[in-house]
Amino acid sequence: MSGQHESNPQSDQAFYDRIAHAYDFIADANEHTARERGEAALNLQPGERVLEIGFGTGNSLIDLAKAVGDTGSVAGVDVSPKMRDVAAGKVAEAQLGTQVELLVGDARKLPFPDDSFQAAFTSFTLELFEPDDIAKVLAEVKRVLEPGGRLGVVSMAVVPAGEQESTLERTYKWMHQHFPHIVDCHPIDVDTVLKEAGYSVAHSDRMDIWTMPVGIVVGAA
Ligand SMILES: C[S@@+](CC[C@H](N)C(=O)[O-])C[C@H]1O[C@@H](n2cnc3c(N)ncnc32)[C@H](O)[C@@H]1O
Repeated sequence: MSGQHESNPQSDQAFYDRIAHAYDFIADANEHTARERGEAALNLQPGERVLEIGFGTGNSLIDLAKAVGDTGSVAGVDVSPKMRDVAAGKVAEAQLGTQVELLVGDARKLPFPDDSFQAAFTSFTLELFEPDDIAKVLAEVKRVLEPGGRLGVVSMAVVPAGEQESTLERTYKWMHQHFPHIVDCHPIDVDTVLKEAGYSVAHSDRMDIWTMPVGIVVGAA
């Protein structure tokens, strides 16, 4: 749950390079349940080709590769070379190296031709970007997905209308506003950003982490 307010690839890279080796301890211990629910909601099938945006330390890459099996494949794009190194170690240890391709790059400019994937996945990454950049990332993912392809998003989410924000949620937002170099992400309305980017929402679920809502949403391109 951490990076830079301005969605600047160089500062994001420096930040995530610094925390790559500690990330599982800092964040994934709290986030893995939501991440795994998002993977399950994507309902991957053997043989599918799937893309992960912001793969971090690679935990989902391994789950995605197992779900698509030997006949499928996974490509991942992350801006941090150090995250890539940590993820590559886990992929090698899981003996999934032939199925998984890891690229260092910017999610706003994906290095793949149109219609390359049947599915895509991203967890705790979309909410790092400012609104214009969220639109760019979602447009890029839509471009590289086949028509009708699915995008699974797990993201810190806004508190739904009619519900009260918890003290922790308010503190988190305040921290993002005043100390974006420490708390880089900001809750988003996942269903709405997907719809605005031209996806139809096929699945929308929610859980809370420490009283803060997390959206688990699948959009169809
Ligand atoms: C909060 S971490 C989440 C990692 C992983 N998805 C997870 O759930 O554990 C965000 C990841 O997005 C990557 N990232 C940040 N900005 C990016 C960009 N512009 N393009 C691609 N990846 C980016 C970071 O390097 C980091 O690995």
